[in-house]
Amino acid sequence: MRASEQVVDRLERAQALDPVAGRVNAFWSTALRSQRLRDLLSGRQLGHPLHPAAVLVPAGTLLSATALDLTGDPGLRPAARRLIGLGLLSAGPTALAGWSDWLDTEGAERRVGIVHAASNAAGLVSYGASWWQRHRGGSGLAAGLVGAAALGLGGWLGGHLAYALGVGVDTTAFHHGPADWTDVLAADEVTTALRQVDIGEVSVLLTRVEGRIVAIDNRCTHRGGPLADGERDGDCVVCPWHASRFDLATGDVRQGPATRPQPVYEVRETAGRVEIRRCEIRALRANPAGPAPDRVLAGRR
Ligand code: FES
Repeated sequence: MRASEQVVDRLERAQALDPVAGRVNAFWSTALRSQRLRDLLSGRQLGHPLHPAAVLVPAGTLLSATALDLTGDPGLRPAARRLIGLGLLSAGPTALAGWSDWLDTEGAERRVGIVHAASNAAGLVSYGASWWQRHRGGSGLAAGLVGAAALGLGGWLGGHLAYALGVGVDTTAFHHGPADWTDVLAADEVTTALRQVDIGEVSVLLTRVEGRIVAIDNRCTHRGGPLADGERDGDCVVCPWHASRFDLATGDVRQGPATRPQPVYEVRETAGRVEIRRCEIRALRANPAGPAPDRVLAGRR
C-alpha cells in the first residue's frame, strides 16, 4: 500500500475524530436547518454538487497570489494582496456549501471530511495572516506558503472524498437496468402506493401518476436512500434519509440536497403485465466492466 493510501486509510478508521465530528455536525445541523438553504448550497440548480465547482474561486485566487509571490517581482505584490482578499471573501460561501455536503456523510467519509475542512480552514487562516502582514507593509510570503500547503492537503483529501469515497457522486452512476423489455409484475398490483421491485442488482420504484404506471430507480441519487421507504407527496416521492423530493414521472429533483435526477424507466403494459426497460447510452453505466460497443449500442435500439 502506498504511503498516501496508508494516510487516508488511517484517517478513515480514526474513530477518535468521531466525538469532534459529532459536535461539529450538531452545530451545522442547526445552522443549516433550512431546507431551502440546503437546497441552494447543494447545487441542485447546477445538476451536480456546488462545492467542488465553487472551490475554484478561492483556491484559484489564493494559489495565484502565491505564484505571483514566487516570481519575486515587487511590482506584483499589490496584485497578490488583492487576489488573497478576493480568495478569502469567496471562501465563506464555498465552505458553507462544503459543510452542507458534509452533513449528509457518515463514518469514514465524515472523518475524512472533517480533516479536509480543518486543513482548508488552516489554509484560510494562514492566508488571512498573510493578507494582514501585507496590509501592514510586510511580505506575507511565509504565511502564504503555509496557506498554500494547507490548501493543497485539503484539496487532496477533497479528491479522496469525491473519487475514492464517492461523496457527491450520483449513486446510480453505474446502475444498469434491463435494456430489453422485462416483465416485472401484474399491472393490477401497481397502485398509487410506492412499490419496490428488484431486477437483478437494480431496485426499481413503481407507482401510478394520474393513472399511468411510472418507474424510477429506487436508490436515491444523493446518498442511496431507499425511495420506496419514503413518503409520497402528490406526484413526488420524499427520500426517507435527507428529504430530497423527486418527481415520480420524470425523476427530476424538486428539492435537494440531491442534485441528480432519478433514472427513469420506460414502462409498457402487455396482457395485464408490466414491462420496463431503460435505453442506456452511457458507457460506464451500460458496461462498467470495459468497452464493448455492441452492448452500449444495444441500449439505443
Ligand atoms: S439519500 Fe439523501 S436525500 Fe436521499
